Amino acid sequence: MKICIVFHSVCGNTFLIAKAFEKTLLSAGHEVMLRRVVDADWFEKPDVSENIRGVLQALRAVPEAKPEVLLQADLILMGSPVYFGNVSAELKAFMDSTGALWFQGKLVGKKFAAFVSAGNTEGGGDLTLSALHTYAKYMGMLSVPLSVNTLPGENVNAFGLIQYSNGKAPEALDNRTLRIIEHWSRTFSL
Ligand SMILES: Cc1cc2nc3c(=O)[nH]c(=O)nc-3n(C[C@H](O)[C@H](O)[C@H](O)COP(=O)(O)O)c2cc1C
Repeated sequence: MKICIVFHSVCGNTFLIAKAFEKTLLSAGHEVMLRRVVDADWFEKPDVSENIRGVLQALRAVPEAKPEVLLQADLILMGSPVYFGNVSAELKAFMDSTGALWFQGKLVGKKFAAFVSAGNTEGGGDLTLSALHTYAKYMGMLSVPLSVNTLPGENVNAFGLIQYSNGKAPEALDNRTLRIIEHWSRTFSL
């Protein structure tokens, strides 16, 4: 299956999730296109700590998302940081840039799944997943179940993956997040 992962990330959490999905989906035999949305002032963000500099350099190297890349995908995975219980403005701008595809019905029938990085468990990660799925609904895309009931010992939101960063920029993802990504990449179906 051809899978396009489109994400926005400033401090690296959402990027690490996207990268982890890329790795596990590639190893499950899928073709994966990883794309970051445009963030016009990203390069002007204040300097970051030494420990995540490498993460952010890798983020810079990811190609920018253009609406047309979605046309090549069978499954679209979209990820955003949680900003005030919603997707970031940059991810929303990318969604809005796909208006012509909506008008022409070009994404109808494609599969869709979502992930977010939230500061904390009360921060509206579920609302943000809902916003992502609202977009997918308008596009006529099909939500891929996360098979959450088949991962013993983990509480997983039915609408997608929520990773909790505590507002920190990470060097690596926590084991819970990696376990969910690994499980989902190997078991998803529609
Ligand atoms: C403008 C702004 C708004 C935010 N709003 C929320 C929020 O509503 N809920 C929450 O849990 N975290 C919130 N956060 C924290 C981020 O979601 C969190 O740090 C996330 O891990 C950032 O993802 P990134 O590392 O991919 O940039 C906010 C951060 C910023 C900068």
